[in-house]
This record gives sequence, structure tokens and C-alpha cells, in this order.
Amino acid sequence: MKISRYQGDIAVLAYSGGLDTSVAINWIKEKYSVEVATVVVDVGQEEDLKEAADRALDNGAVRSFLVDSKEEFANTYIAEAIKSNAMYEGRYPLSTALARPLIAQKLASIATKLGAKYVAHGCTGKGNDQVRFELAFKALNPELRVIAPIREWNMNRDDEIAYAAARGIKLRKSQPSRYSTDENLWGRSIEGSDLEDASVEPPEDIYQWTSHMDRWPDKPEYVTVDFEGGLPVSLNGKPMKLSELVAELNAIAGKHGVGRIDHLEDRFVGIKSRENYECPSAVLLVQAHRALEGLVLSKEMLQFKSTVENKFSELVYNGFWFSDLMESLRTFTASTQAEVTGQVRVRLFKGSSTVCGLKSEHSRYRTALSTYSRGDIFDQRASEGFIYIVGLPVAGSALGEFGTSDVQERVVERKIQKAA
Ligand code: ARG
Repeated sequence: MKISRYQGDIAVLAYSGGLDTSVAINWIKEKYSVEVATVVVDVGQEEDLKEAADRALDNGAVRSFLVDSKEEFANTYIAEAIKSNAMYEGRYPLSTALARPLIAQKLASIATKLGAKYVAHGCTGKGNDQVRFELAFKALNPELRVIAPIREWNMNRDDEIAYAAARGIKLRKSQPSRYSTDENLWGRSIEGSDLEDASVEPPEDIYQWTSHMDRWPDKPEYVTVDFEGGLPVSLNGKPMKLSELVAELNAIAGKHGVGRIDHLEDRFVGIKSRENYECPSAVLLVQAHRALEGLVLSKEMLQFKSTVENKFSELVYNGFWFSDLMESLRTFTASTQAEVTGQVRVRLFKGSSTVCGLKSEHSRYRTALSTYSRGDIFDQRASEGFIYIVGLPVAGSALGEFGTSDVQERVVERKIQKAA
């Protein structure tokens, strides 16, 4: 994108088109006496972003940018999440978190080209997103100063609506939802309002990507995903680019109610919060990828990789996408994926997905060793020696302590009694 320098002071605002950021344009202009450029980044949210970008100009922005980053989001951020089986606290596929560094990078790049002094975002002071944006700005261009209107102005939702009405700010036509939501290709987050009571089951109307419980099909549906070098390349035998595959699988798995997550989550800022997500593709693809890794990677590799995956997920969640450790973890993970090639079959039924078939030319699973039937090549007699050696530390302690076999027996008896 060719962007010329802006003559005068300007702030570059991450714009979603919602109430907060619409009010923010005006507020920043009044409070900081600067012009505002807005940036809408398309990461696959199912909204009319062109309308939002146009409305930013109506609401006083001097420049409005709409950046289509769907492919980059899929091929860099989602791809990395799949290879790393990314799940924060074992539950959340990090959909919102993964898009933040990408949005921040687009903002920083436009701000730098415009020669802007400020970047701005509409995050509250209580969430993770402010941290993710600002850590990315620091890593990419530490000169940029941050304006965070929501954190600074102390207005509640009603104040904002009154502020917008007084200044003729144009808002979205649709009624604002009672929940705070965020969406992109990798998932949808829903929080706030009645969901804040952790004892209450989420009402069906919070869901948009997963069909209503009453409409989950009565028959299971099978999907096959082919992976190559750790990434899905085709769905039900049809080759697709990653962004398409994720979108299509969101629809298929969503129809069966797969991908609903109700999570009591630990925010980076120290608050526990109740979060709901719909991430059909993310849940299914990570599950399938992990199962395929189970077939082709060694036990040692799987164990060690899971610690790397946890660290990766934590870094994404906490906003350290652009960091030295992240770079190194990504390099390690890339080095594990060459043989993660094969086919995974998954059954979708009534809100759950189950891996029910695995195939790979790199499989380490040897039926000749595992079978209980004819064709067994495993020499069972070797296990006696194996157990003798691995058992030395446990048997040896009793021997070392008492030295005679009748005492040993009493020790053993005592241990059994204690355990009972
Ligand atoms: N708790 C999630 C996270 O920190 C989701 C935040 C979603 N934001 C929102 N506006 N609803 O990644």
C-alpha cells in the first residue's frame, strides 16, 4: 500500500466500527488536538467492513484504511497455532489473541508511513488486548505513543451513547448486542452481561457459528483432513488453501455444535473471567493435528513438544508474539513438522468431534510389535530383564536398608498395609 506522509499531527486508530471506537475518533481529536486516521483490519470477521471503513470518514477520520489480512492471518498466525496445538489453559484456541499482533503490525506500519506520533486502540484497562497491542507496538516501533481512550476517559456505555448522540456520531444500524464480542477466522469470543455469572449456563442466543442445540443433526458426519508438513491441505479429499479450509470447516463442524468452549480463564492482568467461545475449526484441527503427531512423532518428542506448546500458548495469550523466545519456539516447532503428513478422519456428532482414523506414511505405529495376534515379532522374554533393571531403584532401596530377604518381606508387607 502506498501511503504518503501526513502533514500535521495524527493518531492512527484501530477501528472496529463499534460504539467505542466510533466515539474514540471524536474524543481523540478533541482531547489531543490531532487528526485521526482509522484502520480496519479484515481477519475474517463476518461483518460489512467496507461500511465500517466508510463510516469512519463520516465520523471525522481524515484517512480510513481497510486492510485485507485474511491470508496473512491464516498462513502465518493460524498456521503457527495449528503446528503448536495452541490452547491457552488447555481450552482456548487463542482466536482473539492471535489476531492482535497482526492488527498492531498493520497499525504500526501505516503509522510509520504517515509519520504519525500516536497509535490508538479501543481496549479497556482490564483486559489482555491492551497488553497485546502495546507490546507489539513497543517491539515494532517503540517511538509510537499510545492513546487508549476507553482506559483514559472513564465513560460507561450510556455516557458513550449520549456523547455520540450529542455529536451526531453515526453508529452501526444493528442494535448493539448485550455482550462484548470479537471474531475472526479462528473463532468468536463472547463475554459480559449475564455470562458473568459463572453458575449460569450460557443461553443459546450467544452462539452464531454453532447451530442451536435443538438443530444438531441426528446422524454423525465424517470429515477427513489431509495434513502435509503439519498443516491441513485438503478437506474431504478436496485441496484448499488454509483460509478456505478453516472457513468451510467452521460451517461443517458448527452445524454439529462442535467448538463451543465455556472457560473460566486467567487473564494476564490477574483477573479471572468467564469467557465463551465458538471455534469449530480450531478445536477440530488442533485435535486432528495432535492425533496425527501421536502417530508420527516419538514419545520423547511429544513430551518435550507439549512443554513448548504450553509456552507458545502463554506467550500468544500474554502478547509476546514479537519476542526472542517466540522466534526460537517457532523455529523448534517448525523442525518437528516435516513428517506430520497424513490423513485424519473425524466424526462430528451432537456437539463433539472424535478422531476415528489415522493414516500416515511416516507412522511409527508398528502392529508387528503391538499385536496380540499372529505375526508378533516382539520377544516377550526380554521384558523380564527390562523390569529387573528399571526396578532396581525401587527394589534396591529395601535391599540397601536391610539387606536380608525376610526383612524385605516385612517391609513389603508394611508398605502394602500402609497403602491399603
Ligand atoms: N478473553 C479472550 C482473550 O483475552 C477474549 C477477549 C475477547 N474480546 C472481546 N472484546 N470480547 O483473548
